[in-house]
Amino acid sequence: MKTVVVGSGAREHALAEALARTSDVIAAPGNPGIAAIAETTELEPEKLDADLFVIGPEAPLVDGLADRLRAQGKAVFGPGIAGARLEGSKAWMKEVVAEAGIPTAAFASHSEPADAKAYLRTLAAPWVIKTDGLAAGKGVLVTDDLAAADRDIDDKLSGASFGDAGRVVVIEEGMAGPELSVLAVCDGSRYVLLPAAQDFKRKFDDDEGPNTGGMGAYSPVPGIDLAELEIGERFVAPALAALLAQGIDYRGVLYVGLMLTAGGPRLVEFNVRFGDPECQ
Ligand code: AMP
Ligand code: GLY
Repeated sequence: MKTVVVGSGAREHALAEALARTSDVIAAPGNPGIAAIAETTELEPEKLDADLFVIGPEAPLVDGLADRLRAQGKAVFGPGIAGARLEGSKAWMKEVVAEAGIPTAAFASHSEPADAKAYLRTLAAPWVIKTDGLAAGKGVLVTDDLAAADRDIDDKLSGASFGDAGRVVVIEEGMAGPELSVLAVCDGSRYVLLPAAQDFKRKFDDDEGPNTGGMGAYSPVPGIDLAELEIGERFVAPALAALLAQGIDYRGVLYVGLMLTAGGPRLVEFNVRFGDPECQ
């Protein structure tokens, strides 16, 4: 069996190492660490032949690589462009989630600074402002400083801080509690939950820095029982059903980012791939 792993990060190194136990792995493009355990190539994934393609990062998924490979008749682990929008557009994701009745923070999406700032003032601190589009985990500001929140809205909507990814912002009610990452492996309608991980995103000690893609994670998480929390029933199953109702056959990982609030688990975000560092 031959498997192509698409990507060049530590997540893809972890995937390549695991897949290499049972198949020949080619990483496209890979990195020097992966080159020590598998073949690497600079060729485009579309030019390669393999029994299975595993797409690691969100950018090629949001760009439709899974669809292009499937159109060539290839077996692919990773959602197509329609499903990848769950991560590619936070505004769309929140609409899907709200309609599916999945517990999450109150929100509104805005493209005009005055409207965004007016909505901000209907919420209590902390204020949460997110780019609609992809920003490598750095597009979220959580702050108790209203002036900083206003500035962030201006910088995002003008395109100054995140280019086109910030031309729409999602403003959310602030939630509090420990976070939990749950990864569900999905085949379109069914899913299997992997053990939960706890991921830490803020730079610097004591959560004093800005958000990053991830500073570190551990798994398993003591005291967490995914069945008892009904994570599959309350988050994964309704999401897959909502996608299927829109004709979206979601295959790959659905990453459920949760906050364990005093009122129970609530969704922070969906990602459409293995988390990194969770995957490691
Ligand atoms: P996201 O990219 O949406 O996962 O957000 C990145 C990080 O920002 C999360 O892991 C949380 O630590 C924080 N965050 C996001 N949304 C909220 C919220 N509504 N309330 C409090 N913190 C949040
Ligand atoms: N560790 C968080 C993420 O992969 O988005």
